[in-house]
Amino acid sequence: MTTRLFSFAGGNTGRWRVQSMNTLAGESLAVVEALELVEGDAGPLHDSRWVLRGITSNERYVTREEKDSLVAKQQGLGRSLSRCAALIPLRKSAGWWTLTQDERRQIFEDHSRHIAIGMKYLPAIARRLHHCRDLGPDEPFDFITWFEFTEADTAAFDEMLKVLHASPEWRYVNREVDIRLRLA
Ligand code: HEM
Repeated sequence: MTTRLFSFAGGNTGRWRVQSMNTLAGESLAVVEALELVEGDAGPLHDSRWVLRGITSNERYVTREEKDSLVAKQQGLGRSLSRCAALIPLRKSAGWWTLTQDERRQIFEDHSRHIAIGMKYLPAIARRLHHCRDLGPDEPFDFITWFEFTEADTAAFDEMLKVLHASPEWRYVNREVDIRLRLA
């Protein structure tokens, strides 16, 4: 059965070794050595210090034209050469969530160029966006973002992150932890 729910369990064991954990905004997450990505609900894994959960969902912002360009350029997760990953859970402020859909799209793309910026890094960076808000009121983040790339593309990933962080969209981000990983 295919699932839309994914769990990210941080602890002492897991296929991904943690290289660094950097809190960019808000509360940090307990430092862990490894991460396991589980399809479905991992529950409390016996040695995990935290488990983040999110579901993939329908797109909210992309236009048909953008979607077609993304589909034409992007590649899926799990490529054998992509031995590096970034797990970046983040939360946006109440101010963001009280905006209307078209106000959010305006900030997200018209003012911040999120899709246009990201598109330049395809297909090098593979990604999956997970939503957390609809799982319940107690989720620690609004989104869990997951990216896979080769060692050689790490600098490009960092460059993209820098540009996105300087955009108006990021004024609404009030919790963000940048976790870098490598396949064990
Ligand atoms: C590989 C480059 C990237 C591409 C092509 C890309 C593309 C996209 C697209 C198309 C959406 C909109 C989905 C929708 O319509 O609902 C989106 C949303 C999002 N992206 Fe990216 N992105 C990239 C990099 C990043 C990075 C590096 C981060 C985090 C540090 C990030 C965080 C997010 C978040 C949190 C959302 C949801 C925004 C919201 O719904 O408020 N993206 N991205």
